[in-house]
Amino acid sequence: MNQPQVGATDGISAAPTGPAADAVDERPGAGMAADIAEQPDVFAGVLDRGATEITRIAAIIAERRPRSIVFTARGTSDHAALYGAYLTEIRLGLPASLASPSVVTVYDARPDWSDSLVIAVSQSGGSPDLAQVIAAARASGALTLAVTNNPDSRLADEAELHLDVRAGHERAVAATKTYTAELLTLLLLIEGIRTGTGRLDAAEAAALDKLPELARSVLDNDEAAELAGRYRFASRFVTTGRGYAYPTARETALKLMETSYLPSLAFSGADLLHGPLAMTDPGVPVLAVVGAGPGGHAMWNVLTQLGKQRADVVIVGAADVPGQTARLATPSVDERHAALLDILPLQRLALHLAIERGENPDAPRGLKKVTETV
Ligand code: F6R
Repeated sequence: MNQPQVGATDGISAAPTGPAADAVDERPGAGMAADIAEQPDVFAGVLDRGATEITRIAAIIAERRPRSIVFTARGTSDHAALYGAYLTEIRLGLPASLASPSVVTVYDARPDWSDSLVIAVSQSGGSPDLAQVIAAARASGALTLAVTNNPDSRLADEAELHLDVRAGHERAVAATKTYTAELLTLLLLIEGIRTGTGRLDAAEAAALDKLPELARSVLDNDEAAELAGRYRFASRFVTTGRGYAYPTARETALKLMETSYLPSLAFSGADLLHGPLAMTDPGVPVLAVVGAGPGGHAMWNVLTQLGKQRADVVIVGAADVPGQTARLATPSVDERHAALLDILPLQRLALHLAIERGENPDAPRGLKKVTETV
């Protein structure tokens, strides 16, 4: 017998949060819906219970004055790392890079990371290659930090410093609340390093206080479920954004691929214009993340070019783009904070699209919660 489906009209938007959500709701998507719905509480927890530890670690790092920050991560966590790299360069004025684990694990190279802070980001802390990169970085004299959702993991153990992102148990295989918890932890860390004391400056703290409520308001709006109906028969997607919105575009593409098995290509808005624009046409939905700040403004030219292609563009974010038929609106906040809000309706789009297409996004085929790579 077919299981009843969880859909937009039968309670998925009001999925319970907290321990009750672990009760046996086995409808396809119930786990992912509950994980997504918990994010406002996860934000509040990181800002409240997590803040002291983040402040302590940020103060240690500020004191050690690294000359650059190197990130290493996989999959969804790699997108959080990319966000961290933008923050590092824009907010700290330090060079940032993403280290490929294969440099260490496949090519057996040992780069000199002695002046750097090397940060591994991983919800599980379970992938051996990241632990090997951290061990190599430590041996070369780098300051090392693991950002994970599992303080008992090998990665947490291997690094000199560890931050727990405090997302709690994630029910679905597809990462959602661990992603945004990683983003927020990296944001607090880098803003704390920026002041030199580990603490946030008053304006940043005041803006972030509003984050849980803003996230709740975004999740209360269910335009994403309607959009999923519209794109039920899409055969591929393109996602795009610039600056802080580029990790959002990449994470959206990954969520669509792993839950709906839909080929989804993510491009920085700039890179889209260097060739791939040619594959857009009215039959390929483009999810364009467009905020109200500089990264968003840099997308306007991209939108003009997409218009010339007669592409089917959905605007995601705070920018008010005239003449756009489809929009997933989010509140107008600083772009570095928008990354924590813009992904929410896109996670819900991936969830609902998978359900509309008869898939179970809680248990995508061929995927496990911990992917061990070397
Ligand atoms: C995506 C997903 C994977 C993981 C990736 C890294 O939803 O779950 O892409 O993010 O395998 O895993 P961690 O973060 O455990 O290192």
